[in-house]
Amino acid sequence: MKKDKVLLTGGTGFIGSHTAVELIQAGYEVEILDNLYNSKITALDNIEKITGVRPKFYEVDIRDGDALAKVFAEGNFDTVIHFAGLKAVAESVEKPLTYYEVNIGGTINLLECMQEFGVHKIIFSSSATVYGEPDSPLCVENLPVGRNLANPYGRTKYFIEEILRDVAISDPEFKVTILRYFNPIGAHASGLLGEDPNDKPNNLMPIVMKVAAGEIPELSIFGNDYDTPDGTCIRDYIHVVDLAKGHVAAVEKIGDVEQVQVYNLGTGRGLSVMEIVKAFSKASGMALPHKIVGRRAGDLAALCADPSHAEEMLGWKTELTIDDAMRDTLNYLEKQGVKIK
Ligand code: NAD
Ligand code: UD1
Repeated sequence: MKKDKVLLTGGTGFIGSHTAVELIQAGYEVEILDNLYNSKITALDNIEKITGVRPKFYEVDIRDGDALAKVFAEGNFDTVIHFAGLKAVAESVEKPLTYYEVNIGGTINLLECMQEFGVHKIIFSSSATVYGEPDSPLCVENLPVGRNLANPYGRTKYFIEEILRDVAISDPEFKVTILRYFNPIGAHASGLLGEDPNDKPNNLMPIVMKVAAGEIPELSIFGNDYDTPDGTCIRDYIHVVDLAKGHVAAVEKIGDVEQVQVYNLGTGRGLSVMEIVKAFSKASGMALPHKIVGRRAGDLAALCADPSHAEEMLGWKTELTIDDAMRDTLNYLEKQGVKIK
């Protein structure tokens, strides 16, 4: 049977580019739309080097409804994976309207085009952040969401989930898969794709990479007085290639399952910030400079996925380890010409 033609919005970004590779390798036809705000066009060259296929690319901003409509008029897509958006938590507090405009306004434009051009399947990049402050550190999909969300970024993810549910109610043909990512890290084993934010990094691993490169003198660990075994916060770090494969599984299943599906994509195993520092130091042979500073506002002590629903429904689970993620991150840095200090 012919495989779906898939449009990836935000497909030159960190998670989108890895997903493009896995989809192409699984036999899907992939096209990419991105405004290159937080990614580079060289991602396309690298996807081509890895897969031998250069996806068709549209340099389009999802806020531009007319330009989006032209893409859909040409594309004849079966499924959309919607990665495009802004994701810097602190910036979302400073510029909430920009976040609502890009993330929510952009999604509405996309959904309007999908309706206009009869595209009925969407997979959305949501986040563990929608769980807010859950009663249990192990998140299952049916926990309440949207409570005590700490910032506008998190609220955009929650609101978009609700918008997608409303569109599904209004149109019985519409199929929605919501993927709640935990903490994506790592890089493609080729060293050609990885996380390379255009702006100042906010998340742990991009900061660790900058410390390793000597661009930031030391990692500030946000608190060691949490109620965890070593006092530092625990998160569920998932290798981006495992995450990308989760998208392939979601594309494969979306036509056959109930109208709205929600899956946690995580490993089910939590690691502390100190364990991440140790894993990086072990892989690189360098003692990563770090110091303990005060807690960061909005951080939870521990958050981890229960990924059993994804395993049961999608036949997907993570395969790669934290050591794989560190090895691949170092290989990516080396291929970028970064010298570990
Ligand atoms: P990324 O910034 O690398 O990728 C997002 C892509 O969207 C970028 O290539 C960027 O240029 C593009 N983009 C931004 N605004 C756009 C616009 N107006 N029009 C068109 N394209 C636009 O981020 P990522 O880590 O690959 O994240 C992908 C998605 O997953 C995002 O929606 C993000 O919120 C979500 N997510 C990421 C994480 C994470 O830790 N990386 C965790 C949970 C959810
Ligand atoms: C953060 C966001 C979350 C968002 C996710 C992906 C907050 C509170 N949460 O999740 O909404 O979905 O990124 O973009 O911002 N850490 C340090 N020092 C650093 C950076 C991080 O100690 O310089 C620690 C943090 O305290 C945390 C862990 O590392 O315990 C992971 O942090 P981060 O990568 O920012 O991810 P989250 O906080 O899980």
